[in-house]
Amino acid sequence: MGKNILITGGAGFIGSHVVRLFVNKYPDYKIYNLDKLTYAGNLTNLTDIENCPNYNFIKADICDFDLMKKIIEENNINGILHLAAESHVDRSIKDPFVFAQTNVMGTLSLLQAAKEVWDGNFEDKLFYHISTDEVYGTLEFDGTFFTEDTKYDPHSPYSASKASSDHFVRAYHDTYGLPVIVTNCSNNYGPYQFPEKLIPLFINNIIHKRPLPVYGKGENVRDWLYVVDHARAIDIIFHKGRQGDTYNIGGFNEWKNIDLIKVIIKTVDAYLGNPEGASESLITYVTDRAGHDLRYAIDSSKLKNELGWEPSLQFEEGIAKTVKWYLENQEWLDNVTSGDYEKYYEKMYRN
Ligand code: NAD
Ligand code: TYD
Repeated sequence: MGKNILITGGAGFIGSHVVRLFVNKYPDYKIYNLDKLTYAGNLTNLTDIENCPNYNFIKADICDFDLMKKIIEENNINGILHLAAESHVDRSIKDPFVFAQTNVMGTLSLLQAAKEVWDGNFEDKLFYHISTDEVYGTLEFDGTFFTEDTKYDPHSPYSASKASSDHFVRAYHDTYGLPVIVTNCSNNYGPYQFPEKLIPLFINNIIHKRPLPVYGKGENVRDWLYVVDHARAIDIIFHKGRQGDTYNIGGFNEWKNIDLIKVIIKTVDAYLGNPEGASESLITYVTDRAGHDLRYAIDSSKLKNELGWEPSLQFEEGIAKTVKWYLENQEWLDNVTSGDYEKYYEKMYRN
């Protein structure tokens, strides 16, 4: 049956992949991409689907409660995929207020709008909140994983704001019966990621022969998942997940930063025709990130066992595809790094 789905943050990195998947896979659904178009939102991420008849774009701020109500009501929205957020840890350290505003108050505004419009008629409705593994805090190098039962222990203003929004989502389920699902995913990589996050930042810096700022000793570990596999998981969970439940999404793919950086360098150098390892001289060890979580690792076996999802791409293949995409889309990189990007870059890395 056709659905009217509101996807928030659909002009961002993960959101654009989710919008693309839903628009192409479900021609009988109406997809409404709602995005404020902050520095991280870019409609050129979606040029391939922007003329599809089931796709609509709405420029709006999720914090605008009255507007959220109006949009949900007028478009008869029955499914919400909530991805809009401020998403970069380093920015949250410099400017935490906007993280509380968008991630906490924005989520609350959307929850309350859905609750008021749906008004207890919750059949065939779903509020699906997309969150991060960073809410669980940090792990030691001891082989343990974050599971759905791991206690929240956020350390950065970003993860604290996402943890708070997750709590509000569950509170709306427990208090008002709002049908919700929360998923917590590990680090994503792939095309259309803003070049402030590790992988696209380093690819862009290698292209421009700029220093590669490695925080601390480069020993922190992240669990990387190809973004299209995250979008596939969201699709499966949206359609088959249990209401009120939580699912972890991850690739069982842990990499120490410095090892990952060497893979990126090798892959980019090979594509650019540079001698192997030529760009390793760009590696620059810089002061560590404040409160830098040591290790993230997701146990996504619940999702595999209950809903049959598994990552489709091996990491080597995913990284090769990703590097190729950024090298073939330097216009996109130049476009998103115009404007205030230089000022941001100076502030982050030259102070
Ligand atoms: P992103 O920063 O690339 O995109 C965020 C999008 O939200 C942008 O298009 C931006 O314009 C929009 N937005 C920001 N504030 C808004 C507001 N007030 N109203 C409407 N739109 C607004 O982020 P991303 O990496 O695509 O992450 C998407 C979601 O997934 C976030 O909720 C994030 O916490 C979560 N997540 C991200 C990762 C990751 O590795 N990137 C991993 C797990 C979970
Ligand atoms: P990032 O992509 O910002 O994701 P997150 O902090 O959400 O995990 O960073 C990934 C890892 O790379 C993290 O351990 C911090 C590190 N890092 C650097 O060493 N240098 C950088 O310039 C950036 C952006 C990140």
